[in-house]
Amino acid sequence: MVSCWKGVDPSQQVITRAVANEKWPWIEVLWDVNIPEKGIYFFWDSDGLHLKSRDYDSRSSVHVDFLVGQQARRLKAVSGEALTRAVGCQKGFRPVVFDTTAGLGGDASVLANVGCEVFAIERNPLIAALLADAVRRAREAELHWVSKFQLIHQDARELLASVNHGVVYLDPMFVKQRKSAPNLAMQIFHDLPGTSDDSEFLLEAALDSGAARVVVKRPIKAPPLSGCAPQSEVCAKTVRFDLYPKRKLTENDLISPGIQGFGK
Ligand SMILES: C[S@@+](CC[C@H](N)C(=O)[O-])C[C@H]1O[C@@H](n2cnc3c(N)ncnc32)[C@H](O)[C@@H]1O
Repeated sequence: MVSCWKGVDPSQQVITRAVANEKWPWIEVLWDVNIPEKGIYFFWDSDGLHLKSRDYDSRSSVHVDFLVGQQARRLKAVSGEALTRAVGCQKGFRPVVFDTTAGLGGDASVLANVGCEVFAIERNPLIAALLADAVRRAREAELHWVSKFQLIHQDARELLASVNHGVVYLDPMFVKQRKSAPNLAMQIFHDLPGTSDDSEFLLEAALDSGAARVVVKRPIKAPPLSGCAPQSEVCAKTVRFDLYPKRKLTENDLISPGIQGFGK
């Protein structure tokens, strides 16, 4: 289903916008030069696609960037992140990863950057569009890992039955009890359709799939997802990766044999 959203393009960069637009066919954006009176809207400038809200300062936006800023620094720095160890990366061994909660692509890009073939699955159409635009810019900049990164806009639960190898990764939304108003990204993640938490069903589908291993990211002190005790865990400073191995990772988990629904 194609959803329809407002977009603001104050400097009318119609051509670059139209080219980029082809990368997110699941959304129809009605572009205007004026900011709408209320609600969430897309914004286009020379940095690409952003998401903004009338309820927040117009300078704040949700934007994904792999070329500059925090995620770019994370990609440059990455070597032995707990995440890569959790999915089973070892010297010369990089399993295929099905990231069922791709979000803004932070974790998925780290995994592709170290050499895993990554299927980044995101069901929210707005978040998937932001990610698709960031991937477009990364591809234009010829970032080496982009060829290993495939974004799929779909509910991951519909795809997990076709997974018969590799690692399934889940980073479900964590509901924080906070007194202060959330920032725009938090509001978007919590309020938009498709981002809501039904992660227990996702875990069930992941464990039922043919993946060799399921990995779930949790806040360091949180209980395991659905109360389902992991076999082991890998801890970082503030997060923990719960590991549910189903069999040993082997050569068969290294590349995607082009299973149905996941073709390039
Ligand atoms: C906490 S965020 C993930 C952040 C991500 N790991 C990153 O590094 O940017 C969770 C994301 O999962 C998505 N999501 C939740 N359930 C999903 C499902 N069943 N299929 C696909 N995406 C899902 C939400 O829309 C949200 O964008």
